Amino acid sequence: MLILGLESSCDETAAALVTGDRRVLAHRLLGQEAAHRPYGGVVPEIAARAHVEALGPLVTAALDEAGVTLSEVDAVAATAGPGLIGGVMVGLVMGKALAHAAGKPLVAVNHLEGHALSPRLADPTLEFPYLLLLVSGGHCQLLLVEGVGRYRRLATTIDDAAGEAFDKTAKLLGLGFPGGPAVERAALEGDPYSVPLPRPLLRSGEPHFSFAGLKAAVARAVGSATPEDLAASFQQAVVDCLVDRTRLALSRAPQATALVVAGGVAANAAVRGALEALASQHDLRFVAPPLWLCTDNAAMIAWAGAERFAAGLTDPLDTMARPRWPL
Ligand code: KG4
Ligand code: ZN
Repeated sequence: MLILGLESSCDETAAALVTGDRRVLAHRLLGQEAAHRPYGGVVPEIAARAHVEALGPLVTAALDEAGVTLSEVDAVAATAGPGLIGGVMVGLVMGKALAHAAGKPLVAVNHLEGHALSPRLADPTLEFPYLLLLVSGGHCQLLLVEGVGRYRRLATTIDDAAGEAFDKTAKLLGLGFPGGPAVERAALEGDPYSVPLPRPLLRSGEPHFSFAGLKAAVARAVGSATPEDLAASFQQAVVDCLVDRTRLALSRAPQATALVVAGGVAANAAVRGALEALASQHDLRFVAPPLWLCTDNAAMIAWAGAERFAAGLTDPLDTMARPRWPL
């Protein structure tokens, strides 16, 4: 089975070819950081226009790299939401056009499902059910992944996502864009316990997340400590919240066979390390995809497409792009 995957829901344009037996034959990605950097965040209209320019050549390059033609593809998987609607429409329309031209089915993939199943692309031994901490720029959720298309949400954020908090903290500290990697780099030079910051919802009875108060506390503390100490203290507060909330969710999901982390924030070494320690305390396997598979990419969309296609799940060509689409 050979699946072409397309991703365009935020500020990465990507195309990939993935087989049913987990071989990534090609994955091409074009980030748009330079275009958005002057604005300190992703500008939807700029993103959509950049996807229009980039996607076609990326698909051609991915097919060339894999040494296959469109007619050899079994299905075309494209992100159909959630995300910035202009970008999602660009990728989904391209997916529909390619599927129609090739006479192959379309798989409309939920971007979150791409993240949720990506650990199974990286690790063939990862079986359902597993507890997934999905931490990205737009989402912060704990999901019990019971099967393809079967996700039980145990927790979500009541305000900001963790990645959003990283991005806003980077902006407050003048560390630039994109924020997560910049905060992580600065934190390496700082003391994580130098600035007292709140841990919102720590030990609260439901495993939900909140990061708005933490961000506000960072804003108040700016100037009182070095950016490095603030970055390290902020990162430690986020790690403490993620670990505490995940521990509570684990106690409610005894059937989970592994603790899995995915999404852009899963690229953070402090986050990965703390979750790995939590998993070992619970005698659970810990699975985190390689860094390139944590942040947005098309291989995870192709893989989610492969899992859905194998389960007989394809979508009509009039499927709509969705800015919001809970799993
Ligand atoms: O999954 P992703 O690429 O896009 C979304 O679907 O949102 O996640 C992007 C988010 C951004 O907020 C970015 O700052 C964060 O992931 N991120 C990180 C790191 N790398 C990316 N956060 C903390 N540490 C990192 N190393
Ligand atoms: Zn994402």
